[in-house]
Amino acid sequence: MKWGLVASILLPLVAATLTPYERFDSRADGITWGPCSGSSDDHIKCGYFEVPLDWAKNSSGKAKLAVAVYPATNPQRKGALLSNPGGPGGSGVSLILGYGQILSNLTGGYYDIVSWDPRGVGATTPGLINCFNSLDEWAKFWNGTLVNPEIDIRYGFTDQTDYQYFESQVPVMEQRWQAFKQVCLKGPSAQWLPYVGTTATARDLVAISEYFDGPGCDFNYYGLSYGTTIGNYLINMFPDRVGRVILDGVEDPITHADQPSNLYWGHRVESVDETYQGFAQGCALAGPSGCPLATKTSTGSGIIDWTKTLVELAHDYAKASGDDNFKSRNLVSAIHQDLYTPDQWATFAAGDFLDFYQGLVQASGSNLTLATRSMWAPPELKRQSNQDFPDYTFHAITCGDSIDQDNVTTQSVFDELVRVVKDVSPMFGGQFPQPAHYCHRWASRAVERFTGPWNHTLKNPIIIIGNKADPATPFADASVVAGYLGNSATLVEQDGFGHLSLAQKSTCTQNIISNFFINGVHPKGDDTVCPIDSDGPPLFPSKGVGASDIRNAISSNSDSSSGSDSQDLANLKAQKNNLFIAVIALAAACGILLVSLIVSCVTGRRARGYKQVGTKGALAHKVEFTGYDTGKSYSDPYDRDSKH
Ligand SMILES: *[C@@H]1O[C@H](CO)[C@@H](O)[C@H](O)[C@H]1NC(C)=O
Ligand SMILES: *[C@@H]1O[C@H](CO)[C@@H](O)[C@H](O)[C@H]1NC(C)=O
Ligand SMILES: *[C@@H]1O[C@H](CO)[C@@H](O)[C@H](O)[C@H]1NC(C)=O
Ligand SMILES: *[C@@H]1O[C@H](CO)[C@@H](O)[C@H](O)[C@H]1NC(C)=O
Ligand SMILES: *[C@@H]1O[C@H](CO)[C@@H](O)[C@H](O)[C@H]1NC(C)=O
Ligand SMILES: *[C@@H]1O[C@H](CO)[C@@H](O)[C@H](O)[C@H]1NC(C)=O
Repeated sequence: MKWGLVASILLPLVAATLTPYERFDSRADGITWGPCSGSSDDHIKCGYFEVPLDWAKNSSGKAKLAVAVYPATNPQRKGALLSNPGGPGGSGVSLILGYGQILSNLTGGYYDIVSWDPRGVGATTPGLINCFNSLDEWAKFWNGTLVNPEIDIRYGFTDQTDYQYFESQVPVMEQRWQAFKQVCLKGPSAQWLPYVGTTATARDLVAISEYFDGPGCDFNYYGLSYGTTIGNYLINMFPDRVGRVILDGVEDPITHADQPSNLYWGHRVESVDETYQGFAQGCALAGPSGCPLATKTSTGSGIIDWTKTLVELAHDYAKASGDDNFKSRNLVSAIHQDLYTPDQWATFAAGDFLDFYQGLVQASGSNLTLATRSMWAPPELKRQSNQDFPDYTFHAITCGDSIDQDNVTTQSVFDELVRVVKDVSPMFGGQFPQPAHYCHRWASRAVERFTGPWNHTLKNPIIIIGNKADPATPFADASVVAGYLGNSATLVEQDGFGHLSLAQKSTCTQNIISNFFINGVHPKGDDTVCPIDSDGPPLFPSKGVGASDIRNAISSNSDSSSGSDSQDLANLKAQKNNLFIAVIALAAACGILLVSLIVSCVTGRRARGYKQVGTKGALAHKVEFTGYDTGKSYSDPYDRDSKH
């Protein structure tokens, strides 16, 4: 049933056009544009673009990509600017429907703003990848494993019995993951597994660019989050065709393509605690009226300690009572998700977070001395309802792209998780399993896998942007990628919090993006640091606490609280909705709403749960290119010899 729901949300986004899809029919020429269902904006057009499933093998059949465009509004059109919102699994069609206009505005209206649902996503065929025929099948298959019910690892792995249980599950998970491989190879998406992946997606991107700008054109691209991985493949596969490219919220492609995939998780959570420090400091500065998690005397570090205690209490209570609503994981992953979008921090603090706290205190009879207030609201952990959605697109892309990992053992995956919890983030590291934790047993590899090198000299230097404290893509990765590219990249550090530069308003960063796409101008100097606007929307609006206040408090270590403030909690709850509306309005005005889409792409999928495991084998094959049985020739860009 849940599948039906998702399908009905995703499919209508592209108007039904064309004849029914048959994998082995010949490819249609061009794109037949029409209105996009789900959009009232006539300016945006949607259609399908057909490409070979395997770019090296026409006889593999075709993929049918759902494409959307927000056409240039300026008569001096410069070309197409392609974008991808991340994931893996984010819908490019949704990106254009929701944010095409904002992106167009940011780039002066000179470009056709274009995106598409990559293979494995949305209205494209192949669409959503899954391995089970029903949710019941899924639940039964994983019943009693660490996947279902999802294991709740205590803060810092400090519960010895949990730890022993976790360790004891190594052989169980090994057996299940092996069995899952067979399930997936017989599952509904089996025929597609080798054809989703970033290498094919990079070729698709070039083909779409050519559709707009002609054979042999340079491509322009704005990649966000995992979209930066697509970007790194793209610029290194086609270095001689790089037009204007910006990568924002960067992942190190080596962790994606060249290392055992499970090592990726340690990178992913590298800067979450730093971001949380920002949240906690902001909350303390806002005080009880601006952030009901704070007391009059709260300090940033006090709120961090308090949260740790809360998380431990949640774990212990859920375990003792069997009440899964209060698993510490629910709170931890909600916090992690909300750290992506600082403009939602105040709403989160007064909403889900507070509800969880109050619900737990009420249910467990504990007092956590936040304030002994009694208002009770049932927890509204949105994540609970549909977290079991079986969606394996993330796995298929991440695992399909990666190196062969037969030599990676399940024991080593578990050991690495323990290391991440102990050494990288005791609070956020224990969200196990993530899709990348299964790749060593995933069923398939992509037919073509680009694995670098990542340091090509590019036709035109690109811009790399990283946020100083980004809970999903640490700045260190942006810096590493800029290092690979040397003179072919300029690095910009935005001195803010959240996922992607768009998470907070920085006129400095926005001017760099605009000036680059409009005029081709790079910022001067090697390492530009962009501040967040001091008059931008405050993070805790009712007290006007902004990013710079938080930064100053952290760096001066003053860690001060806001002093007197005694507004009643009930009033604050009532204020919550107004606050939310104000935040949205401010965000929209600044063009930073885009980020909530990206977040929903990246974490909405996490919210549905990566309940899956992977294996690899039967379908796995390394590609040897012995030439092309082209027929219909899609001229040069797909000629591998010129790229590697
Ligand atoms: C961008 O938006 C602003 C404010 O709405 C508007 O004044 C400006 O003309 C827009 N620019 C373009 C290129 O659409
Ligand atoms: C999972 O296993 C338990 C105990 O063996 C059983 O009671 C429950 O019905 C099972 N659930 C599913 C979905 O198979
Ligand atoms: C709550 O805290 C008060 C004051 O610190 C204490 O007297 C009381 O016993 C505590 N209640 C529980 C259930 O721990
Ligand atoms: C597995 O092999 C790859 C090379 O194929 C190597 O890079 C990696 O370190 C090995 N992993 C383990 C756990 O031995
Ligand atoms: C690119 O990286 C490879 C291997 O990582 C190295 O051998 C090569 O020298 C590098 N090339 C440049 C131009 O830095
Ligand atoms: C593959 O090439 C042949 C010609 O060699 C052509 O007839 C066929 O339509 C092509 N298939 C696809 C899927 O494009």
